[in-house]
Amino acid sequence: MSLLKIARLGHPKIRQEAEPVSAEEMHSEAIQRLIDDMIETMRDAHGVGIAAPQVHVSKRIIAIEVSPENPRYPNQPAVPLMVLFNPTITTHAETTLEGWEGCLSVPDLRGRVPRWTKVNIRAADRRGQAVQLDAEGFFARVIQHEVDHLHGRVFLDRLPDLSTLTNLREYEQFWKH
Ligand code: NI
Repeated sequence: MSLLKIARLGHPKIRQEAEPVSAEEMHSEAIQRLIDDMIETMRDAHGVGIAAPQVHVSKRIIAIEVSPENPRYPNQPAVPLMVLFNPTITTHAETTLEGWEGCLSVPDLRGRVPRWTKVNIRAADRRGQAVQLDAEGFFARVIQHEVDHLHGRVFLDRLPDLSTLTNLREYEQFWKH
């Protein structure tokens, strides 16, 4: 396994529509290795999620893992490691909730983003098996953030109020509590 370089805002891949992954590709050695590397890269950067375009690969693959000990998003309910191919939001709650988000591709910034409180997801798991998921709370937020990456969107595009945008240090100092 190896650490991958993270694409930052401004790299064209961050703004591209990612390609769906075929059933054949899902089982390929190259894609399975990419997934291992995405997981290692996410953990190394203390991310709670990562999408393939963030490592310069325009494919619809995301990985999510939330631990309450994560230093970037502490005290969030745990989500065990999960890899999804071609995730689609099928239905969602009508209500939204604002919460702080950052992004490995948008270093050192946080902003308050409204997200649907509950989403239902259809995808394939790492073995290519069809799965359906119900996500709520922070998990729903992370999934919506990562699915956005597959369509060339970042959290900044979702900010209703740019004045909430803050540097990480100032976030820690003024907004964390
Ligand atoms: Ni992100």
